[in-house]
Amino acid sequence: MNIIHFDIIDSTNTYLKNNYNSLDDYTFVSASLQTHGRGRNNRIWNSNQNENLLFSLLLKNKECIDMYKSISIITAYSIIEVLKDYQINNLYLKWPNDVYVGDKKICGILLESVSKNDIECLIVGVGLNVNQSNFEGEYIIDPTSMKKIINIDIDIDLLKKRIYERILFNIDKILKGHDFYKDFIKYDYLKDREVYMELNNQKKKVKVIGINPNYSLRILIDEEYTDVEAGEVSFHV
Ligand code: BTN
Repeated sequence: MNIIHFDIIDSTNTYLKNNYNSLDDYTFVSASLQTHGRGRNNRIWNSNQNENLLFSLLLKNKECIDMYKSISIITAYSIIEVLKDYQINNLYLKWPNDVYVGDKKICGILLESVSKNDIECLIVGVGLNVNQSNFEGEYIIDPTSMKKIINIDIDIDLLKKRIYERILFNIDKILKGHDFYKDFIKYDYLKDREVYMELNNQKKKVKVIGINPNYSLRILIDEEYTDVEAGEVSFHV
């Protein structure tokens, strides 16, 4: 276990991708500023210097790699638990890896892996909006931050420690056999919504039934039930 902080770096996920070989399992890397912060689907993740929590967690052990399907959701769930301690309510987990407050995004997760013959490691990258109040630029979903909701400046170092500990605590619990399904299912943002999903390179309107116990998403499409393992969900064509 190891904690590293950079004042400035290209991307904490990229740092772990390039250095995972020489780093311990559960290494946690944070940054005050990223010059090339990355979001999902090759999007850019912009964040003001010193205002938000930007970190990546390295997972190298086989047990964690084997449960890769659960990692984003368990990370999002851990963040929800910590945000509740800050009196933030109306929290949702938007499958597969965002945290929302109401209809606004507060946190995004980018799960990556490095593979040779097998998966060598997982990298869980998290961008949580903490003290930033103004979000300029184009966002697909309206962003929000902890400060915008509770109106106080948050100690990012303390928050970082709490989130790191909670994620490790929950990973340990799941490795010991705890089933988080009934814990996270109550935060399912997409449940019963009509959304658009890209399936076989085509955007299709689908009705979401909800997250399954195995972390896939059950949808109703063309009057048939299907379970999807991964995918981008949007509310517009
Ligand atoms: C998304 O919602 O698209 C995922 C955003 C993930 C951003 C975080 S910030 C820390 C880590 N380093 C990166 O370059 N990306 C992730």
